[in-house]
Amino acid sequence: MSILVTGAAGFIGAYVSRALLARGEQVIGVDNLNDYYAPALKRARLDRFASDKGFSFREVDIADDAALCAAVKDEKIASIVHLAAQAGVRYSLENPFAYARSNLLGHLSVLELARSLSVGHLVYASSSSIYGANKSIPFKESDRTDDPVSLYGATKKADELMSASYARLYRISQTGLRFFTVYGPWGRPDMAYWIFTEKILKGEPIDVFNQGAMSRDFTYIDDIVDGVLSALDAPPNAERGFHQVYNLGNDRPEKLMTLIELLENALGAKAEKNLMGMQDGDVERTWADISRARRELGYNPTVTLADGIERFIAWRRSLPKAFA
Ligand SMILES: NC(=O)c1ccc[n+]([C@@H]2O[C@H](COP(=O)([O-])OP(=O)(O)OC[C@H]3O[C@@H](n4cnc5c(N)ncnc54)[C@H](O)[C@@H]3O)[C@@H](O)[C@H]2O)c1
Repeated sequence: MSILVTGAAGFIGAYVSRALLARGEQVIGVDNLNDYYAPALKRARLDRFASDKGFSFREVDIADDAALCAAVKDEKIASIVHLAAQAGVRYSLENPFAYARSNLLGHLSVLELARSLSVGHLVYASSSSIYGANKSIPFKESDRTDDPVSLYGATKKADELMSASYARLYRISQTGLRFFTVYGPWGRPDMAYWIFTEKILKGEPIDVFNQGAMSRDFTYIDDIVDGVLSALDAPPNAERGFHQVYNLGNDRPEKLMTLIELLENALGAKAEKNLMGMQDGDVERTWADISRARRELGYNPTVTLADGIERFIAWRRSLPKAFA
């Protein structure tokens, strides 16, 4: 029996695939290797485990239901970790249809696949973005999530609702994971920590939105991978409605200016800051209440932002050149 990982060439998907292989699982990875950011980075992530005997890869668009089914025909799939999506809050203002395609149609294709294969558990990525401009902090799973600030957040909320309906209708065990600003080596070049790094290295000014008055619950990739694997091993049963959602964050919100200082220290250079207004689609702060994941999944994040940024910069310095 195999585990299907969608978005296997993505930041989180590549780490999760490696971790599953390391514990002896058979992994089938799918990804369409789109060019939202450098496909060379996606291929380089895959190269780190493509030769593992337990791994096979299919280049496929999950929004193409027939192609997705054909790609895994004849495979015995025990469970699915569904991480493929159009990510990024700001890009959802520029290219909304990319979100409809990958996050709505794509999620539905994965649900239909899970139904047709009768998989034991579908774990899927949700996001802190579904909390919108939630005023009550820290964000709890029981808080209202019907007032998104971006289309990205709206599609992730729609994913949770689609999953809830499939859990009820077809008794497919599912777990939705609301990730909070995941970062680390092999990360995403569209995210602030990476954009700032490249600009500081080139001596170019960085755009600091909302005059820097923002905070994020940054979560290191290794902690997230532990959370994903623990969730995978705990499929919700009938008593739990076959569907649960969990915050996977760090419960340690950090100011944007702290992130910039940590990058400056690690890079040994000062950032020239362009102080700007708030961007549409952005929220001022995120902060995860992770007590449910601690209690039910044994989730226990340990990496501080200072340590995580040092590890990211050490990795970035080891690259011969930036991925373009
Ligand atoms: N990184 C974060 O901070 C964060 C925060 C909240 C939620 N998430 C969610 O976690 C998941 C993984 O995020 P990530 O940071 O690894 O992003 P990522 O962009 O690095 O990975 C997503 C992968 O999915 C692939 N993909 C996109 N659309 C596809 C399609 N239609 N068919 C097949 N493959 C497709 C992309 O090529 C990419 O490799 C996503 O669902 C994202 O929305 C991430």
